[in-house]
Amino acid sequence: MDKIIVHGGRSLAGHVKISGSKNSALPILAATLLTREPCVIHSVPDLSDIHYMLQILSHLGAQVERASGTVTVQADKVSTVAPYEIVRKMRASVCVLGPLLGRHKEARVSLPGGCVIGDRPIDLHLKGFRALNAACRVEGGDVKVFADELRGSTMDLEGRQGPTVLGTGNVMMAATLAEGMTIIEGAAAEPEVVDLANFLTKMGAKIEGAGTRRIAIEGVKELHGAEHSVIPDRIEAGTFLVAAALAGTEVTLRRVNAEHLNAVTNAISEAGFRLNIQRDTITVFGNGSAQPVHLITEPYPGFPTDMQAQMCALLSRANGSSSVTETVFPQRFMHVSELKRMGADIALEGATARISGVTRLSGAPVMASDLRASAALVLAGLIADGTTEVNRVYHIDRGYESIDEKLMGLGAEIERVKNQA
Ligand code: UD1
Repeated sequence: MDKIIVHGGRSLAGHVKISGSKNSALPILAATLLTREPCVIHSVPDLSDIHYMLQILSHLGAQVERASGTVTVQADKVSTVAPYEIVRKMRASVCVLGPLLGRHKEARVSLPGGCVIGDRPIDLHLKGFRALNAACRVEGGDVKVFADELRGSTMDLEGRQGPTVLGTGNVMMAATLAEGMTIIEGAAAEPEVVDLANFLTKMGAKIEGAGTRRIAIEGVKELHGAEHSVIPDRIEAGTFLVAAALAGTEVTLRRVNAEHLNAVTNAISEAGFRLNIQRDTITVFGNGSAQPVHLITEPYPGFPTDMQAQMCALLSRANGSSSVTETVFPQRFMHVSELKRMGADIALEGATARISGVTRLSGAPVMASDLRASAALVLAGLIADGTTEVNRVYHIDRGYESIDEKLMGLGAEIERVKNQA
């Protein structure tokens, strides 16, 4: 397993180009299963989660070609079974259920693995499929969904923890080929859901309201091939904003959609950092330590849970006491114990981290436990005294395209040590 070694204390400056969004690309690639015609997807990031999704598509029988950031998929004939060996590595593999159900009226997919961020049920996905007249069963570790005919209906997909992003996408994909009108109340409004709806619309789907909490889908007989560019990754961008606030003098992010980052840029300016925000670039001016902030993660347009760990790293060096409350994944605090090993002063009270800023962090060997937690540890390493060794970086490679090279391009001193036992 690779590890990343960060030598702290270098200041960051310059430009960094943000990659296409992982969380958009995954369901969009799954959506190519809805048609037998070729689909061309641009700005697909080079990440292990994307490789897993392409493997799943190939395993299902699709022709997949990749040339740099462009992926072409033609799913002329596809099987409807995605087995455990193929899907276990990634939770987002669950999003092939919707398109297979839509096109073939049946799908069998092993229950997903993925980040260790607490219990990750798919009950809301299944609730949506059932509302479309499908039967759903769990058998031998697989989830099986099937229907004689998919029929549109009105459903509420809001769960106890709020809306579901992949669940909304999954049901939206199945509903594009259902008979009649589907209304999803309590839909997720994340930009990735909008990007998926835009792609489906290019394929011939009839969708209104994506980006709001109510999405209407009028079923069509069939979908056709389409070409699409994935939106910029707002979480990668947010991670570089925090890196720049922590360790930068002047850092400019290119190819961002600033509108998608409002909650994050508001939090960073509230922490005392000056930002120059244009439509597709953001410049952050580092100015020493952060001011304390009180944050609550929420569904979009609130502060994203996927930026919570990185903000904990930033606030661990603030001039005072901050708090970060997690409402989307209440158990998502695996980074806290590792940050404490680096000298951070953080107390967990239920789903709230109370962070008392310290004047210095010190480098330590730390263990990455999930994707965003690992990013937070690399960020903390940038400003820690000495050397931080982040182990199990396969987590980070799931979601950040060349994070070490991009940070080095800004002046960080980072090494990747390959193949540690
Ligand atoms: C997606 C993102 C992930 C992000 C999350 C929340 C992808 C590939 N991943 O994950 O990076 O952290 O949105 O913004 O896009 N829930 C249920 N039942 C369900 C589904 C979800 O109770 O059937 C709960 C979850 O446990 C969680 C909350 O709903 O507490 C939100 O989860 P959800 O939006 O579904 O996350 P994902 O779509 O899996």
